[in-house]
This record gives sequence, structure tokens and C-alpha cells, in this order.
Amino acid sequence: MSEHSPHETGTPVPLDQGHVEGTGGIPERFANPGLPPHVPRASDLSEAAADRAEKQVAGLFTLSILGTLLFLVAYFMVDVQTLTFVPGLGDVSLSNILLGLGLSLGLLGIGLGAVHWAKTLMPDEESVEMRHPMRSSDEAREEFVATMAGGAESSQITRRPLMKATLGGALGLFSLPLLLQLVGSLGPLPKNDLSVTYWNGKKGEDGHWTAHKWRLVRDPENTPVKAEDVTIGSVFHILPEGLLDMEHHRLEEKGKAAVLLMRLNPDDFQDTPGGRKARDWGYQGIVAYSKICTHVGCPVGLYEQTTHHLLCPCHQSTFDVTDDCKVIFGPAKRPLPQLKITVDDEGYLIADQPFQEPVGPSFWERES
Ligand code: FES
Repeated sequence: MSEHSPHETGTPVPLDQGHVEGTGGIPERFANPGLPPHVPRASDLSEAAADRAEKQVAGLFTLSILGTLLFLVAYFMVDVQTLTFVPGLGDVSLSNILLGLGLSLGLLGIGLGAVHWAKTLMPDEESVEMRHPMRSSDEAREEFVATMAGGAESSQITRRPLMKATLGGALGLFSLPLLLQLVGSLGPLPKNDLSVTYWNGKKGEDGHWTAHKWRLVRDPENTPVKAEDVTIGSVFHILPEGLLDMEHHRLEEKGKAAVLLMRLNPDDFQDTPGGRKARDWGYQGIVAYSKICTHVGCPVGLYEQTTHHLLCPCHQSTFDVTDDCKVIFGPAKRPLPQLKITVDDEGYLIADQPFQEPVGPSFWERES
């Protein structure tokens, strides 16, 4: 009868009788190091230290409360169009900065407070649990239930009203940003909003638009473009003149009016209805298309000069510029809207007419 090692028979190997794999079968005996000596915390030894720890925990929960209040103030009182300059990022929405800051402080205060509470005031006992069958014994189960039942008492939350009140306040208030994000920030359907862009002309005080043929300007340089500047193969990121000088709603209007400008050899357009329309709406092979992907609205920013394809980096929808930006690959369902262009008396490119259909995603009924 052959002899079996404890590993083969499944017999548990005491910690101080094992050997290390990969040592050529030579047993490496080692002693169980055990646990380091227990060092009591200051808060275990002195009630004053425990009170100090409680104040620190309460301070962190209060920080969370202040952060959540900052979020609420930013949400209701700061106009999302108000911009502030952040080094490295440029102009960004002040509201977004404050919302992010408030939310971060709200979460951070609760998280750090809970960790500090656990490290200073919750029970500090090391224990060793030996391996045992997966199912606990009946006594262990009863013990667990009793431990959980006494948890509130041993964590001191019932004895420390200041901490209890601030934790309740922090957690209670923090539910408001979540509710606001879920319910209050969905916004209206984009239906009509995406039908009218800055290319439609000038918007009067009464909200009515007067037609105007805006010059095409480079983004972000804000300089007009002459037809001769656009060489074959080049791509320009374009906005309507005046948009970058807006004080209000600049980001919103920019998102809708952004256009890509390219020049093709006029012979490169396909001899299809779409190809002919694309050439006719352009100027000497220069064409302008909305930059907002018709799938879910990412900026279409990649132009393959040799194939004349525009590629959306989000889900790889591909549009054929030689055939009116028809979708030839990917999840987008309709072509990019084309901006009809021509030149003014000084040779600068201008919009001859605004987009003839809504820009952006087509997930709503455009006909309505
Ligand atoms: S947003 Fe462009 S492919 Fe999805």
C-alpha cells in the first residue's frame, strides 16, 4: 500500500508543518507568526479622546452636508450658461464645476466620516476564525444574530447623538441630488430645438428669427474662411460668425451649429441624386456638413481623405461625403444634414441657407 501525503488525503496541514512548493521537495518548516500584540487606541483609553474622535467624525459628516447644500445652490441658482475660466480647460460652465464639487464633497464627507468612525470608535478586536464547514453551527448563527442586534450599541451610535444627527442629515440630504438628477434633469424632448440652429439667422428679442447669411468662421480661431483657403483634402471645424461672441447659450448653440468643411475634386462626387445634390449645395467642391452624428450625437471628427469617408469615433458610423454623407456603415440611420454654402462679394464662404432638417440624433419623430 502506498503512502499518501496529507495534501492527497485532504487532511488539514497545521501551519507549522507545511512545506513551500518549488523547493525541490525539501520541507521548509516555519512557525505560525500569530497576531502582533494588540495596541489599544487613544479613544479606547480615554473618554476625552473618544469625544474628540466623535467631533472629527461629525466634522466630516458636516462637510458632506455643506457639499450637498452647495450642489443644491448650484443646481437651482447658478445659470448653466455662466462660464468661468479654468486653467488647462478654458471656458467651462460654472454650474457644472459647482455641481461636481458639491457632489464630491457630499460623497467624500460621508465616506471619510464612516472610515474615521470605524477606525476610532467602533470595536477594535482582532480575532482568528479557523476554517470550518460552510454552514455555520446553530450556536454561531445565533451568535451572529445577537452580534448584529447589538451592533448599534457597540458602534456607539445610540450613545452619540451629535454623530447620529449629522450622519442622518448627511445621508438624508444626499438623496436629494440623486433625485434631482433622476427626475429634474431629463429636460425636454429635443424635437424643435434641433430644427433651428444659429445658421437660421438672427434671433430677435421676441424669439423670432430673421434670415441672415452668416459667414463661416474657423473654430476656435473665429476667423472667416475664403474659398481659396480650403485646399483639396483639408478639413475645417466651422461655426457661424458671431456665435463665439455670444454671452448666453453659447455652448448650446455651438453644439447644434458645428460644421465640418472639406474640399473634394468636383469629379469625385458620385453620379447619384445624393452626389449631385451634395455638389450643387457646395461651392467648387467645398461642402459643409453637420458635425453632430445622427446616431446619438457624438462629434463626427475623423475624415479619411483618400476614401472621402467621415467617421464617428463613438460607434464607427461612416458617412460617404461623395454621396451626400449617406451612412455606409454603423448604427446611424440617416445622412448628416448638409449646409448649403456659397461665397460673398469678398470671396468669403457664407451659408446660403440653413440646414433643411434637424441636426443630431433621429430618435424622435422628425415629421412631427
Ligand atoms: S454617435 Fe456616432 S456612431 Fe454612435
